Amino acid sequence: MKIRAAITGIDGYVPPDLLTNKELEQMVDTSDEWILSRTGIRERHILKGENRGTSDMAAEAVKGLLKKTHTSPDEIELLICATVTADLHFPATANIISHKAGIKNAWSYDINAACSGFLFALATACQFVESGLYKKVIVVGADKMSAIVDYTNRDTCVLFGDAAGAVLLEPASGEEGIMDFILRTDGSGEEFLHMKAGGSRRPPSYETIDAKEHCVFQEGQSVFKFAVTKMADVSAEIMEKNNLKSEDISWLVPHQANMRIIDATARRMGISKDQVMINIDKYGNTTAATIPLCLWEWEKRLHKGDNIILAAFGGGFTWGSIWVKWAY
Ligand code: ACO
Repeated sequence: MKIRAAITGIDGYVPPDLLTNKELEQMVDTSDEWILSRTGIRERHILKGENRGTSDMAAEAVKGLLKKTHTSPDEIELLICATVTADLHFPATANIISHKAGIKNAWSYDINAACSGFLFALATACQFVESGLYKKVIVVGADKMSAIVDYTNRDTCVLFGDAAGAVLLEPASGEEGIMDFILRTDGSGEEFLHMKAGGSRRPPSYETIDAKEHCVFQEGQSVFKFAVTKMADVSAEIMEKNNLKSEDISWLVPHQANMRIIDATARRMGISKDQVMINIDKYGNTTAATIPLCLWEWEKRLHKGDNIILAAFGGGFTWGSIWVKWAY
């Protein structure tokens, strides 16, 4: 029988400090009404403190996950971290997380697929379990977006928050687990969503700092148009491919970038809003962390055998959908 990889545990970490729409009203020319009606966001959490990065949030999620699942750090064979806000250009944030969480018998690496990062990392990790190679793999989605947001630019500063989520993947004994995935990239999307400087093409300089080129640049409307069609299309495609009807789906877990994108995806899949995990109001767009954060918050309401569709769209462009049969 085919070995499946199943999510067997989940944990998350959200930093305690809040940034509300009301506070943003004092920082840029915006309003609580505009942010809420155009995005669905009320507040987001921000990681504060000197020298604290993505790995600090991720390590908390991983330590929580190990404790919850009664797993020793020594049992973990591989840890993959999806992030666009690595602690450093190198080494990989995954290595730093492993070190902070006491994981010593594993290898680890980062995946950069922006808001689709968790899906890309989950599908990758799945291969190591399905092949029979590994029995315990951790997948982390974590981003400290506040590190790359320009808080004088209303186009982007209202959108993002900081958080981390982590799942444990193990071989499944039954019919449950990661059932199928469709993932895509389109590099022509670069012009609409990117960070202009800091990489090898345009290394940091006084000029790039003055021009705020180390922050997220997004042409919101163009990204919106792609996101709304691609995320809805890929979610419908994975259902058709697997002969899943809307009544077969227990939950849609959409990336939390904009309430209007989430609504369009749910409509296209023919599922009602009470089957959609939504926490964008509390956390904003936490990039690679949105999907594990939803699963973490909803964990107690999930049942063995539930059909769950994970769906995301993000910078790259990257997008995709994963069908999961919940395993516990
Ligand atoms: N407050 C008040 N007004 C604002 C704000 C703000 N925070 N931001 C923009 N506006 C204004 C604009 O200046 C514009 O004014 P104008 O009409 O006078 O020119 C007006 O509001 C409309 O601006 P749009 O950009 O057209 O607003 P839109 O309805 O498209 O919403 C948003 C913007 C929320 C960014 C939306 O386009 C969106 O969600 N895009 C997709 C985001 C996404 O999915 N990203 C991918 C994941 S992110 C990642 O991968 C890292």
